[in-house]
Amino acid sequence: MFRRATGLVVLVLALASAAPVRAAPSAVEAGRTMAKRDCSQCHNITPGGGGSWTSAPSFQSIADRPGQTAAAISAYLQKRHVQMLRDNRPKPEADAIAAYIASLREK
Ligand code: HEC
Repeated sequence: MFRRATGLVVLVLALASAAPVRAAPSAVEAGRTMAKRDCSQCHNITPGGGGSWTSAPSFQSIADRPGQTAAAISAYLQKRHVQMLRDNRPKPEADAIAAYIASLREK
């Protein structure tokens, strides 16, 4: 019992000391799963990916835009867009997908 509690404390401390600007790995993973299911028909969602067969920009290029933030991407995904299906998402989903896109950022 005591040893388990100690392990938990170590885990919590390890998570807390991870880079604060990065979203929790689990949110990124959940976002990646949703993006694969709901976005990959039109967007190239893979790290380092280029354009796809539609006019939809790759997630890599969205992530690398100057000044891009997860918050801005999430806000975008919570609104409706004419050319894009499966937007207008609830905030927790938009946040998770945005965390995934932002995690691709290289620049
Ligand atoms: C039916 C095809 C389609 C699907 C499905 C789709 N998109 Fe798009 N998306 C587009 C097109 C086309 C554009 C570019 C034109 C526009 O902005 O409407 C776009 C633009 C975007 C942009 C804005 C890029 C910019 O220029 O700032 C983001 C962010 C985005 N999509 C994210 C997503 C996410 C996340 C999903 C899945 C939840 C998704 N899209 C699903 C077609 C799609």
